Amino acid sequence: MQLLINGRQHEVEHGDEPLVWVLRDELGLTGTHYGCGIGMCGCCTVLLAGRPARSCQITAAEVGDRPVVTLEGLAERDAAGEVVALHPVQEAFLETPLQCGWCLPGHVLCAVALLARDPAPDEAAIAEAAQPNLCRCGGYNTIKLAVARAAELARKA
Ligand code: FES
Ligand code: FES
Repeated sequence: MQLLINGRQHEVEHGDEPLVWVLRDELGLTGTHYGCGIGMCGCCTVLLAGRPARSCQITAAEVGDRPVVTLEGLAERDAAGEVVALHPVQEAFLETPLQCGWCLPGHVLCAVALLARDPAPDEAAIAEAAQPNLCRCGGYNTIKLAVARAAELARKA
């Protein structure tokens, strides 16, 4: 079956497997992390038709023709696939000191979705968007600062 991932069609074999494993094991897109496997932690988050979705909770076949965006699909790339510019959310998280990074795919992709619908989110909107994702290092305040910084960078871009 075919999946549209990060703007490209990919042939995948294991349509009955959770999307997280198809991304990681079949396609080598290890920017999508695996944590709880039961839809609780959010580290496996991808954007599915522009909305955050937990890739451990949906099979590849259930994705159908909806576009999937993973962490690898955020940066701007040239024709050879080399990164030419990071997404403002990536820039902001790189500038922000965090710890292990296990939770970051979920936080980054939820921030991308938030800024797409609200380019100037207030503190409450940032907290609400971050809330579904666990951070086992307890970096919630830092993560919220990174999202606020991302909004600033995106408005300047
Ligand atoms: S691994 Fe999917 S929500 Fe935790
Ligand atoms: S930075 Fe370690 S889990 Fe969030």
